[in-house]
Amino acid sequence: MHILITGAAGNIGTRLRKLLKGAYPRIRLSDVRSPTDLRSDEEFIAVDLADYEKVKKITEGIDGIVHLGGHARRGSWDTIHKSNIIGCYNLFEAAYRSGVKRVVFASSNHVVGFYPRERKIGVDVTVRPDSRYGVSKAFGEAVGALYADKHGLRVTCIRIGSVKDKPIDQRRLSIWIKPEDLAQLVRIGLEHPDIRFEIFYGSSNNEAGWWDNSNARRFGYHPEFRSEDFRAEAMAAQAKLPPDPIGDRFQGGSFCSDEYDADRKW
Ligand SMILES: NC(=O)c1ccc[n+]([C@@H]2O[C@H](COP(=O)([O-])OP(=O)(O)OC[C@H]3O[C@@H](n4cnc5c(N)ncnc54)[C@H](O)[C@@H]3O)[C@@H](O)[C@H]2O)c1
Repeated sequence: MHILITGAAGNIGTRLRKLLKGAYPRIRLSDVRSPTDLRSDEEFIAVDLADYEKVKKITEGIDGIVHLGGHARRGSWDTIHKSNIIGCYNLFEAAYRSGVKRVVFASSNHVVGFYPRERKIGVDVTVRPDSRYGVSKAFGEAVGALYADKHGLRVTCIRIGSVKDKPIDQRRLSIWIKPEDLAQLVRIGLEHPDIRFEIFYGSSNNEAGWWDNSNARRFGYHPEFRSEDFRAEAMAAQAKLPPDPIGDRFQGGSFCSDEYDADRKW
């Protein structure tokens, strides 16, 4: 398979391109900025996802795309609109026109950020985004479903929790995913013969988890890392953080409290 990774210069892209290299000898990298650690044997093409013609070019001859590119945090509507709405649409449209067979889309837990922490949710709940960023990821999932159902693209959306080597606070004990486990999910999306349109939660084996990830397990996902192994460290870090009465209630954390005024008196 010839793979394209968008957002290849970012945090996850930098980790994934190394983790996936053994499995896929041919990987094309793209981002709006160049990776700082690009090696001479790696193919990199700088492209802004908002430019359809250029996005079309980088998808040509590709079998599977890992779509990480985009604005990866809260942001203004202009920024989110350009990178995550127009950019994401361009990516799926170009993939379809170029005959790409599979797309793995980096969705986010912020698609469902306004579910309370005491509620365990699966992949079939109504989206409850906690930010313009979360809305853009819900849009990406919807575009993915359209191209899967209408045009036969095989699409996997991974609602990624928090990608780090270890969970860094209490919330991350519930949503953490180690890069190696994420690479396992990405490979399922790129290779499993029964994928049409699927949503997985991007989390490791987290005892404190809020998500029913049985859909991913159905496709053979066996996360190897446990957030509980880092509990003491994560809770010590949590103790140094200021309380966040709204953020601490909801799964999306500070994305929920940011700009929050739903309790105001009319
Ligand atoms: N890191 C996490 O824990 C996490 C959690 C949930 C979802 N995600 C999603 O995973 C993906 C990767 O996240 P990350 O942590 O590596 O973020 P990142 O910001 O480090 O990387 C994103 C990359 O996308 C590129 N990009 C932004 N706008 C672009 C555009 N218009 N055209 C081309 N490239 C553009 C940036 O230059 C950057 O290198 C993102 O889509 C993010 O929303 C990440």
